[in-house]
Amino acid sequence: MQPGRSCLAILLAAGEGTRMKSARPKVLHEVGGRSLLGHVLTSLAQAGADAVVVVAGPERPEVAREAQAVLPGVEIALQTERLGTAHAALAARAALAKGYDDVIVTFADTPLLRPETFGALRAELAKGSAVVALGFEARDPNGYGRLVTRDGVLEAVVEHKDATPEQREITLCNAGMMALDGHQALSLLEAIGNDNAQSEFYLTDAVALARSRNLTTSALVAPESEVQGINDRIQLASAEAEFQRRKRLDVMAEGATLIAPETVFFSHDTRIGRDVLIEPHVVFGSGVSVADGAVIHAFSHLEGAAIGQGALVGPYARLRPGASLGAKAKVGNFVEIKAAEIGAGAKVNHLTYVGDATVGADANIGAGTITCNYDGFFKYRTNIGAGAFVGSNSSLVAPITIGAGAFVASGSVVTEDVAPDALAVGRGRQVAKEGWAKGFREASLARKAAAKKP
Ligand code: UD1
Ligand code: CA
Repeated sequence: MQPGRSCLAILLAAGEGTRMKSARPKVLHEVGGRSLLGHVLTSLAQAGADAVVVVAGPERPEVAREAQAVLPGVEIALQTERLGTAHAALAARAALAKGYDDVIVTFADTPLLRPETFGALRAELAKGSAVVALGFEARDPNGYGRLVTRDGVLEAVVEHKDATPEQREITLCNAGMMALDGHQALSLLEAIGNDNAQSEFYLTDAVALARSRNLTTSALVAPESEVQGINDRIQLASAEAEFQRRKRLDVMAEGATLIAPETVFFSHDTRIGRDVLIEPHVVFGSGVSVADGAVIHAFSHLEGAAIGQGALVGPYARLRPGASLGAKAKVGNFVEIKAAEIGAGAKVNHLTYVGDATVGADANIGAGTITCNYDGFFKYRTNIGAGAFVGSNSSLVAPITIGAGAFVASGSVVTEDVAPDALAVGRGRQVAKEGWAKGFREASLARKAAAKKP
């Protein structure tokens, strides 16, 4: 976006976040399984930011760790006193002094801004604006800064607490983020004072200041859903709802069928192929990919799992991190798979736990099979060869190998390796006693009758 123009993004993250009532810094709370901070960093990178400075407060170490993890190379600046948004932006003074073409100032607690919106702000700068504010039509404008326009030209942004009664009638509100001409930004920010109702250095004053210098200012309007900020858990849930709404639309636009989209929950990194069918009430934790043509039946929970082409999952399946299903594999109801590869065409259809294991292609794992992978101290692996048949209700005590094409009799507790194509029977031999039940019944009835007599 905006080829040929360099871009610095300043991400204000020094939040008190007291209304979250949390031990965690506000911007590290998550939407779609990714921190608020992470969402904004990703969007800025997609909008072509060449450098990003995250301005953090006392919660700096945790914020820095997350920022580095999401976008390696990001700089962290410290704002020791919370003196307002312009003061916060000036914590990135050293970067501002480098003279980027475009400067974007945005907030880490506003995670749903699209890269396209940052791109549109940059395009306004390219057209000659020195300061571009982002506005939205607020359902409830109370508390927001107002965009004061005359004949469609942005004249100033006035904070609610400083606004006149007439200005408070304005419903076009300031979303907070702003783009500035990088060759004017430092000088504008440094000229901002704090003579206002809150004695704060307002970033928004850059607009009136630019006009007093005969520079061009303009405003763009975004949907309110995109600029919603997060101050408490209720707003966090509202942002989550908007994130999920978008992700469901994306997944369907890419060719997957969702029977009841509003009941399916995705993570920021969920990848769904074409002609995938997702039934109602499915939850995707982070790190899941589903290849073309797979079916995820109702009430399944997947996390850190890779589902192969045409595979069938659920209903009521739980796939945990490291689960990997080959093409056309089947994992059925009440089955849990963890750190295990299930080969192409293999079937694990009912009531089974497969953990720390490899299951070969076309193997059949009977109902109620358990890989006993843990002795309370260490985890051990189970290897099941291609085409093996594990009878129902078997316990495979790891470490163990079941050879290709081998057969495990149902109800076995298997503690020793099974050779390819062999039969393993690990259970007590059956004893049948002719007529025993009849004799037992008659004797018992007689005892009961005798006990009832007075
Ligand atoms: C700001 C805007 C207001 C806009 C509103 C939208 C200003 C002066 N006002 O007001 O016009 O309608 O956002 O939500 O910009 N921050 C710091 N350090 C500070 C102060 C703020 O890092 O010293 C960060 C906060 O973490 C937050 C963002 O800047 O992410 C906005 O600060 P906040 O105090 O919420 O601004 P508002 O008063 O809501
Ligand atoms: Ca705010």
